[in-house]
Amino acid sequence: MNSHPGGAAHTRRMLELSGLRPGARILDLGAGAGESVELLRDLGYGADGLDLAPRSPLVEQGDLLRTGYPDGSFDAVLSQCAFFVSGDMPGALRESCRLLRTGGLLLWSDVFFSPPEPLLTAAGFVLLAAEDMTPQWKEYYIDALWRGDALCCDLPRGKCSYWLLIGKKV
Ligand SMILES: C[S@@+](CC[C@H](N)C(=O)[O-])C[C@H]1O[C@@H](n2cnc3c(N)ncnc32)[C@H](O)[C@@H]1O
Repeated sequence: MNSHPGGAAHTRRMLELSGLRPGARILDLGAGAGESVELLRDLGYGADGLDLAPRSPLVEQGDLLRTGYPDGSFDAVLSQCAFFVSGDMPGALRESCRLLRTGGLLLWSDVFFSPPEPLLTAAGFVLLAAEDMTPQWKEYYIDALWRGDALCCDLPRGKCSYWLLIGKKV
C-alpha cells in the first residue's frame, strides 16, 4: 500500500504536471514498498528506487541523503512523503539536485511546516508547479492513525500542510 496521500493518482498527476516522457530515467527516493517504481516502469520510464528500509525487491537499500550515484545521473528525482521523514529536508534537496542533470526535474510531495518554495530555491531549483494537497493529507493521516501506521516522529508545532511540487534544476 502507498504511504502517501492520493496513491497512484498522485503519482500520475506529478507525471502530468512534469511533462516527463516515457524513457526518462527517474530515481524514487524513499521508495518504500515500490508502488511508484512499479507504476513508473509500467508507464515506460526507467525507474529505480532507494530506501533505508526497502519493502520490495524493486527498491534498493540506501540512504537518500547519501545515495552514492554519480552527479547528473537522472532526468528526474521523485519523492513522496520521505524527505520530511528523513529529518533533513535541505540535505535531501541538495542530494536530489546533485543527482539531476541540468534542467532535470524534481517531482516532490511532502509534509511542510513552512512555505516550500524557499527550500526549493535554496537548493538550486526553480518552482514550476505547486498543488496544495492538505485536505487529502488530513484524510490520509487520520486514516493512518486509525490503522496504527501513522508517521511517528516528533512533529514541530504550527500549521501543517502537504504540497505536491515540481521543481527544475537551474
Ligand atoms: C511515509 S514513507 C513513504 C514511502 C513511499 N515514498 C510511498 O509514498 O509509499 C517514508 C519512507 O522514507 C524512508 N526513509 C526515511 N528516511 C530515509 C533515508 N534517510 N533514506 C532513505 N529512505 C528513507 C522510510 O524508510 C520510508 O519507507
